[in-house]
Amino acid sequence: MKKLIAVIFVFLTFSLHAQIQTDSITIDASNLRTKINKNIYGQFSEHLGNCIYGGIWVGENSKIPNTNGIRKDVVEALKRIRVPVLRWPGGCFADEYHWKDGIGPRVNRPAMINTNWGGVTEDNSFGTHEFLEFCRQVGCEPYFTGNVGSGTVQELSQWVEYVNSDNISPMTDLRKKNGRDSSWGVKYWGIGNESWGCGGTMRPEFYADQAKRYGTYMRDYGTHKVFKIACGPSDEDYGWTETIMKNAADQINGLSLHHYSFNDGRTAADFDESGWFDVLKKSLKLEELISKHSAIMDRYDPQKRIALVVDEWGTWHGVEPGTNQGFLYQQNTLRDALTAAGSLNIFNNHCDRVKMANIAQMINVLQAMILTKDGKMVLTPTYHVFDMFKVHQNALWVRTSVKSQEYIFGKDHISAVNASASIDDQGKLHMTVCNIDPKSRQRIICKFIKYSAASVSGKILTANEMNAHNTFDAPTAVYPSDFSGAAVTSSGLEVVLPPMSLVALEIDGTYDLSPPLQLKTTEPGVRYEYYEGQWKHIPDFDSLTALQSGVAGQFVIPEKNSGEDFGVRYNGYIKIPADGLYTFYANSDDGASVTIDNTLIADNDGQHAPKEESGTIMLKSGFHKIQVGFFQASGGKTLDVSFDGPGFAKQIVPSRMLCH
Ligand code: AHR
Repeated sequence: MKKLIAVIFVFLTFSLHAQIQTDSITIDASNLRTKINKNIYGQFSEHLGNCIYGGIWVGENSKIPNTNGIRKDVVEALKRIRVPVLRWPGGCFADEYHWKDGIGPRVNRPAMINTNWGGVTEDNSFGTHEFLEFCRQVGCEPYFTGNVGSGTVQELSQWVEYVNSDNISPMTDLRKKNGRDSSWGVKYWGIGNESWGCGGTMRPEFYADQAKRYGTYMRDYGTHKVFKIACGPSDEDYGWTETIMKNAADQINGLSLHHYSFNDGRTAADFDESGWFDVLKKSLKLEELISKHSAIMDRYDPQKRIALVVDEWGTWHGVEPGTNQGFLYQQNTLRDALTAAGSLNIFNNHCDRVKMANIAQMINVLQAMILTKDGKMVLTPTYHVFDMFKVHQNALWVRTSVKSQEYIFGKDHISAVNASASIDDQGKLHMTVCNIDPKSRQRIICKFIKYSAASVSGKILTANEMNAHNTFDAPTAVYPSDFSGAAVTSSGLEVVLPPMSLVALEIDGTYDLSPPLQLKTTEPGVRYEYYEGQWKHIPDFDSLTALQSGVAGQFVIPEKNSGEDFGVRYNGYIKIPADGLYTFYANSDDGASVTIDNTLIADNDGQHAPKEESGTIMLKSGFHKIQVGFFQASGGKTLDVSFDGPGFAKQIVPSRMLCH
């Protein structure tokens, strides 16, 4: 009955208005593997205009409420959207920044001219300690961009030592003198910024060598391993990606990509439908850019070890009247919100390669989350998009196949609908879906694979005008509200999206999971077989003859082994305590893999130092087949298999859950 009422409701909504188009989305819960890295929701803060000064930093003596010189209102707002990672100090500024000028007593810090951004004097009052304090307050990870354009190898090497080392050394002494005893442990480091442009105007061949040279001296200290992000291409510069991957892939962990959606120079709210179409189309270009750069990366890195890091993206409009051209201060409308939502849907749908993205920029610059004026603050439509999308952070990606009507403008067209979906750790399904057509509503018929929906609720972000925006006087003109245009039907779900809207749906339902195995009798532990041979990857054990075999309580390397050039395969069952999402981790030196019910979940194959890889699967409670493969080439050897699941934190798979 409920479903019938729902269908009538959607039908009435459909028939009451004229301009409506019908689209479909298939939501496939059958192949749940990849997590959406929360760092896709990262941000960028540069010493540019009023991003740092005024936006973040007001100083301890300011009348604006602050904690250690950092605005309280801004920190509270950013905590709400759960910013995971923040890039700093640039941008172009990074390649002129000398970090030692930004430490120690502020009165002694030398000033410099910010030649990239407005030619203003930078007094270096916000430096390494202040930035890391800001990250602490927000609860996000820092991402530093090193100076490769005008700095030395030694300077960058010492910056890493200053923030990451706990040894006794000149840099750690200096840090202690400046009031910080222990290291911070900064993981993410960029090796220069836009080195093809403002970061040194380099050729890709030259930069690849520089990346290796600078990268060599960015040392790991203790447990603080440096994740090195090389400067990648802008837009369609596929040659840059090819050259860096060809020459430096083995020494980097990430490659950046920059893409801005520039408009015709007019201010953010000054546009008609042609401006709406133009900027949205430019933002959706990310789909093609990421696909093509990923295809190049796949040729050199088929295991997708290297992350594509879209560390600058967003809209770029003309500056607001009366503001410094070099400060890039722009308003933010519903158009910006829908470009952000479409871009985030694209990143989610490429989460196998895109592991981080950083919108440009956090406060008062370009497509900002927050605008400030003295003690006032306003949240932009883009802020609300990040709020609505935060449910996807670290959730399990669900494939959505969208069959959309075209939004036609003049002789051009783009898909009216875009979407992405994920499952959170509570098993709830989330879908973020946009209708970018400003004139037509979209009736979307959603079908599920391996899932039955039971109920749906949602939030919507829209407005009557395409250039609607929030101001200090009217801060909630574009604000999320409850959405009632979605209903569960006998065949899935129907949603009616108003023109120019973003809807975030939360769906409750049941997964059609493979049933657990029925085992009549079980014995504790898992069987193992031991082999010898020289391999670079986990061998096909079926084609080999085992030299010893037995039962092991856990996934541990048999004590009797040849030290080098051997492999082990473990076979057994794991008793899963409750229905839900389980992540398995293979930490190994050299390669290892974890397979559940004959599906490869954690793939850590290859010859390498200790490192961990993981994968996630939705399981029903009961017995499931588990297989672990491991091989040792030379050097050190390690194997740990751990997991986490509903209601329990990561732990080594305990022997009480294993049997054969
Ligand atoms: O985000 C503004 C600028 O755009 C950055 O400094 C630079 O990297 C890019 O060109």
